Amino acid sequence: MTFTPRTIIEPFRIRSVEPIRFTTEAQRSAALTAAGHNPFQLRSDDVLIDLLTDSGTGAMSAKQWAGMLASDESYAGARSFYRFESAVRDITGFRHVLPTHQGRAAEHILMSAMVKPGQIVPNNTHFDTTRAHVEHAGGEARDLPIAEARQPRALHPFKGNMDVEALERLVSAEGRERIPLIMLTVTNNSGGGQPVSLENVRAVSAVARRAGIPFILDACRFAENAWFIHTREPDHESRTPRDIARLVFECADGCTMSAKKDGMANIGGFLALNDDALAARCRTLEILTEGFPTYGGMAGYDLEAIAQGLWEALDPDYLRYRVRSIAYLGDKLTEAGVPLVLPTGGHAVYLDAAAMLPHIPALEYPAWSFNNALYLTGGVRGVEIGSVMFGRRPDGSEQPAAMELVRLAFPRRVYTQSHVDYLAEVILHVHAERAQLRGYRIVEEQPALRHFTARLEPR
Ligand code: F0G
Repeated sequence: MTFTPRTIIEPFRIRSVEPIRFTTEAQRSAALTAAGHNPFQLRSDDVLIDLLTDSGTGAMSAKQWAGMLASDESYAGARSFYRFESAVRDITGFRHVLPTHQGRAAEHILMSAMVKPGQIVPNNTHFDTTRAHVEHAGGEARDLPIAEARQPRALHPFKGNMDVEALERLVSAEGRERIPLIMLTVTNNSGGGQPVSLENVRAVSAVARRAGIPFILDACRFAENAWFIHTREPDHESRTPRDIARLVFECADGCTMSAKKDGMANIGGFLALNDDALAARCRTLEILTEGFPTYGGMAGYDLEAIAQGLWEALDPDYLRYRVRSIAYLGDKLTEAGVPLVLPTGGHAVYLDAAAMLPHIPALEYPAWSFNNALYLTGGVRGVEIGSVMFGRRPDGSEQPAAMELVRLAFPRRVYTQSHVDYLAEVILHVHAERAQLRGYRIVEEQPALRHFTARLEPR
């Protein structure tokens, strides 16, 4: 008798546990008030289920911890570096591997080496730090996602794709002199954790190669992206995530990586490149800002954790569970009529607060309000991706963001199905009572990246 289970279980057992703290509604209300109604300012001890980010928040495996104990902390030429370098080379195929302390450090080095004032860097959608580093180097960060990316419920299997025709138009209008590199973010975090198809990666690569422009991947969630190609793109179901990831990397000239995501580590990243001259320039910058090129801002034990973690991220059993646990929450919410970005992506569920709270104008921050209600109701912490994050222009005026979303990002291998069931209960409760929610006003803010530190008050 063959048995085909319908339940996809966590592909691990738990040997070390970390208690989470239950609080009362009164305690949460006091904590949020003290935090200026800003979840970024909460102490994590006051949070029950923390979905602020999937970055650096994952659980490491016994093999990762074992590698960390046996690490080599030599300043130069450490054994741990060579293990790290060969894992990155085996998976990506890129020749030069520059370790960095996290993803944005790789972006900083790359943009400093490649972008000059007045130049344009296209991407499907820049992550905030990528955009900030392009702009810091004097360039313009241009987002070119396909049209479906901006419609929360438009069903498209690869909603992270780049609009290749728009890219071609940009390249022929501006030329190679004004476009120092083309980037593609897999999966597209700012666009809902949505995957990019191999076909799209190849098409972008072809445009870049024809024009002689370097093509660099933002590979933070490359393994989740490979899983979506495996399950959704015709002709790839028989390929392993590892083989698919290699096909994706082969299209590019290099990548930036935050190992805090699909490196399964708590800190770390890298810049990987094929071009010898560019790599040499980047190494010099790396020594200035990160450290010697065989540790680059990390300890030997971090290098070990990543060398092992990159392989674990490509394990099909892990990826099946990972993507399923996001879809599981998405399905429960969809059945109950809660609007969210569909299809669900690789690392997070994005709730559509504009659709849920039509009575709260964008500039009274509906997504902020819904997110705070999740915390007050159930101790759940997500993040607003809406007009608090994006609504302030450089001249200080306010403009509504394109979407009002609440991102609930899942740390890797941390929460179990009962946590997700609880989470669904909290969301459904807040959704049912949503007519009572009120907007917020900002009472204190910084001119840039205000969402991290702003203080707000309920209206
Ligand atoms: N690129 C993408 C697509 C990211 O999602 C992030 C980080 C980075 C680059 C920067 O990497 O944090 O290691 O410097 N995203 C986190 C998030 C912070 O919550 O989505 P980093």
